Amino acid sequence: VAATPEWAQEVKRLARERNATILAHNYQLPEIQDVADHVGDSLALSRIAAEAPEDTIVFCGVHFMAETAKILSPEKTVLIPDQRAGCSLADSITADELRAWKAEHPNAVVVSYVNTTAEVKALTDICCTSSNAVDVVASIDPDREVLFLPDQFLGAHVKRVTGRENMQIWAGECHVHAGINGDELTEQARSHPDAELFVHPECGCATSALYLAGEGAFPADRVHILSTGGMIDAAKAAKSTQVLVATEVGMLHQLRKAAPGIDFQAVNDRASCKYMKMITPAALLRCLVDGADEVHVDPETAALGRNSVQRMIAIGN
Ligand code: 13P
Ligand code: SF4
Repeated sequence: VAATPEWAQEVKRLARERNATILAHNYQLPEIQDVADHVGDSLALSRIAAEAPEDTIVFCGVHFMAETAKILSPEKTVLIPDQRAGCSLADSITADELRAWKAEHPNAVVVSYVNTTAEVKALTDICCTSSNAVDVVASIDPDREVLFLPDQFLGAHVKRVTGRENMQIWAGECHVHAGINGDELTEQARSHPDAELFVHPECGCATSALYLAGEGAFPADRVHILSTGGMIDAAKAAKSTQVLVATEVGMLHQLRKAAPGIDFQAVNDRASCKYMKMITPAALLRCLVDGADEVHVDPETAALGRNSVQRMIAIGN
């Protein structure tokens, strides 16, 4: 199935017929982003899913994102074009591992990144995304210990920004962002001395970007650690004509649409998330024709997870 204008028309017609809204994450294929009703980062899409007036949400993203939509709107039908679209970061902690960790720190507040399964969210006090992680941790009583999971690089970033000492960080990572390494970033930053640098906090290289800035190799005001949604806002405000982007390559599509005058270059052009790319034009069409794959979350797990997700969507921008 090719992403022709006829395909796009058929997708929109079928979505209307089902009273469905199509949401797409910033890492989706360009043709999926272009046919969607809303494109955004995980926080923005969670908020839209929670308020959508339609009966059905078609989530073009990975499974934990569709699960989060279902947790927020249990009465709605939530569809994902391919339920095999997982996430290596969400897989880096299980509910049993979290139970054991909590048992070692019985008084701690558990902060989970939204990239987690519904079972892990059910054991969580408050969820966060990359765009509000700092605000979420800053909102917690400074005397309470924090267990932050599962991403070690986002955790390190939050710890650095908040200056919080009593914060334990799980050693998980996203294989795509961990693969954008500091050497590549250093090399590119040095060879493009006038470019701004947008770095997702899941990147292992976030630290070296800040280190480089500290060393004077790169002016500090040119390094921005941002969620995918934050990158769009920063693109609109950018002063440079070139921006180096350290995140999944699907991001470049929305950035180029948001600021056509800027030359956006991927720091690593092999940083592609195979799970995000499972949502193909054929899969989206099949999803709308067959009403599959439907996302189910056990009602008890959803009820436990809902509080932590609702606290997440209430905090930060
Ligand atoms: P954002 O919350 O920045 O959209 O990131 C989601 C994600 O999966 C990053 O890999
Ligand atoms: Fe998960 Fe990484 Fe893919 Fe984001 S880019 S969905 S964190 S595997």
